[in-house]
Amino acid sequence: MTETTADYRVIIGDSRKMQELANNSVNLVVTSPPYPMVGIWDDFFREESAESYDEMHSYLSQTWKEVKRVLAPGGLACINIGDATRTKDGMFHLYPNHSRVIETFEHLGLVTLPYILWKKPTTKPRYKGKGAFLGSGFLPPNAYVTLDMEYILIFRKGSLRTFEPKDPKRYGSKFTKNERDEWFSQVWSVKGTRQTHGKLERRVAAFPEEIPRRLIRMFSIEDDLVLDPFLGSGTTLKAAMDLSRRFIGYEKLQDFSGIIQERMGHESERIVFRKQSVMEQVGSPLTA
Ligand SMILES: C[S@@+](CC[C@H](N)C(=O)[O-])C[C@H]1O[C@@H](n2cnc3c(N)ncnc32)[C@H](O)[C@@H]1O
Repeated sequence: MTETTADYRVIIGDSRKMQELANNSVNLVVTSPPYPMVGIWDDFFREESAESYDEMHSYLSQTWKEVKRVLAPGGLACINIGDATRTKDGMFHLYPNHSRVIETFEHLGLVTLPYILWKKPTTKPRYKGKGAFLGSGFLPPNAYVTLDMEYILIFRKGSLRTFEPKDPKRYGSKFTKNERDEWFSQVWSVKGTRQTHGKLERRVAAFPEEIPRRLIRMFSIEDDLVLDPFLGSGTTLKAAMDLSRRFIGYEKLQDFSGIIQERMGHESERIVFRKQSVMEQVGSPLTA
């Protein structure tokens, strides 16, 4: 397999500049970025000199702009993000990350589609590491609603993607009635994932494989090119490989290439790992 024909690529580098990808070359983006104002990401954003809520979203917006550039007409982007709460200057605040991301994509000119609310059945209300309701327990009116949902936001670049009548790859990728009924309803109950790689993977906050698996089946067809610009431990790559889609992912931290290789086992022989800028541009522009 030569590098230019490789179907699975991991770029160790920064998705704020995806120079390895041609304009209009990606059919589907499935990703979960670092969440602004969520404690486990504080150090990460600090190292990027993004300390305020606005700065954290400005950081992410640079990747969202690239997502727009590389998506093919009719291509879709699915973004998993959770809101955050924090007490600042003695005042409890909600940081509605999902609405910031929607605003950014609207400004970029993508079409916002109905989104999914992902309820993790294992999520219990917690505060400062202890199971608790936020605010003052059982007494009205100062208790706070617990954030026990995450969002899977869905955007499209331009109008609907078109196909030849009876396109065999499209028909070969169809879902069943049960799958359609469950996947296209707004609330998903999918268990969170166990973090098994110690400190580093705890920091990455992986999503369960079922999330990218559903999204890839819902919004792409066989052989499509799927992108994850915040790859982490490689969950989207694993799902794309199992579902015969091509894949490219970006991850800033070199240490994750070992985790991804370990996770993929012998399948990792099919993946090309490269540092950014060492690889020529891939993907030819696609049309709707
Ligand atoms: C929430 S995690 C992704 C978890 C992933 N969905 C999984 O299942 O393992 C976000 C990842 O984005 C990476 N990251 C943050 N900024 C990045 C950037 N500009 N380019 C590439 N990767 C970045 C972080 O290092 C982290 O591993």
